[in-house]
Amino acid sequence: MIIRPKVRGFVCVTAHPEGCAAHVQEWINHVQGRGPIAGGPKRVLVIGASTGYGLASRITAAFGCGASTVGVFFERPSEEGRPATPGWYNTIAMTRAARARGLFAGNINGDAFSDDIKRRTLEMLRAEVGPVDLVVYSLASPRRTHPRTGVAHRSVLKPVGNSYTNKTVDTDKGVVSTVTIDPANEAEIADTTAVMGGEDWEMWMNALSEAGLLAPGAQSVAYSYIGPEVTWAIYKNGTIGLAKNDLERAGRNIDSLLKLNGGGRAFISVNKALVTQASSAIPVVPLYISILYKIMKAAGTHEGCIEQVQRLFATRMYNGSKPGFDEAGRVRIDDWEMRPEIQAAVREVWPRVTTENLAELTDIAGYRADFLKLFGFGLPGINYDTETEPHVPML
Ligand code: NAI
Repeated sequence: MIIRPKVRGFVCVTAHPEGCAAHVQEWINHVQGRGPIAGGPKRVLVIGASTGYGLASRITAAFGCGASTVGVFFERPSEEGRPATPGWYNTIAMTRAARARGLFAGNINGDAFSDDIKRRTLEMLRAEVGPVDLVVYSLASPRRTHPRTGVAHRSVLKPVGNSYTNKTVDTDKGVVSTVTIDPANEAEIADTTAVMGGEDWEMWMNALSEAGLLAPGAQSVAYSYIGPEVTWAIYKNGTIGLAKNDLERAGRNIDSLLKLNGGGRAFISVNKALVTQASSAIPVVPLYISILYKIMKAAGTHEGCIEQVQRLFATRMYNGSKPGFDEAGRVRIDDWEMRPEIQAAVREVWPRVTTENLAELTDIAGYRADFLKLFGFGLPGINYDTETEPHVPML
């Protein structure tokens, strides 16, 4: 079939297999271009491995460190002539490339929150890989069925306490408008923490520990975001921010567990705001990202997921010294985004942006191009007018 982008609000319901593969190859090329990461991990489990920061982590581990990787993700195969989700195609491309280099790459597709997927992952590690020296926890999900209670929790992206009014952009239509979001109630706050907080990360680490599948000195990292004040009501101080506080709480427990396991460590890496499937669903944030991209590209400091994670591994986690923690014990790879001159420029542009000057004052074009790339569209060298086979079996 001929596959074209079909954008519906903040999702694209189609994905291009060869385009996704080309995107993955760009990321592999970036990591290989930066050279081997000395002292990097050799056996790595990535939970949330098929897109965004998790995929970048898996690619950095495999192609920067020569690691065997097991990736856990939740993707839909193609069915009835409908293309698969992009993470499906990304994973196949990543796996092919890793195996071509003689690296083990194993894939587990299913609900990472469930006991069954944890059990299957442990089985694969036991049989094929052995104890891991790094666990990357990079899930972004709108829902979680709790494995003990069976309760289905749904996360919401809302402010806490007061309603919040700010500018937002419809990235598809290019319309800047004002949005007011009512505050979350107690149940929504608890549900969002159940989904995006740290309980599941702890469950994974305890299961790995009990199974003897953590190598002495093993590390674990999970990703968070803080960002500038303009987004705080919806992010840092909103439901997702409270969930991230819980992720930090879990990180401290896991850190204790890993310290006892041969002097390992767990920490949160605070990453840069980037276009991913997860971030495009957050009100206000895509407008901030569009402004940020323009300013950081002009400053020569713009990075995508792969640049962020390669820099995290090469300069913070495996550079032979301590990663350099902030006052709350987090690694800050959002340092370039948060530079005072970058944020001052964002603050200057923010109040001036309108529908009419969106293209001039922001990098909405770059945002849209990155968004389409997530689904394998707009990659150089791909002929989107020719037939392509959407059905590709998982490896
Ligand atoms: P993403 O949407 O690109 O990736 C999410 C991953 O989780 C995918 O591999 C998906 O298959 C997997 N997943 C979702 N539900 C699952 C389930 N039930 N079982 C198994 N796998 C499941 O998201 P993104 O943006 O890469 O987010 C990853 C982490 O990075 C999140 O914790 C997010 O808060 C954080 N982060 C994201 C930033 C951004 O701007 N995108 C900035 C800083 C942190």
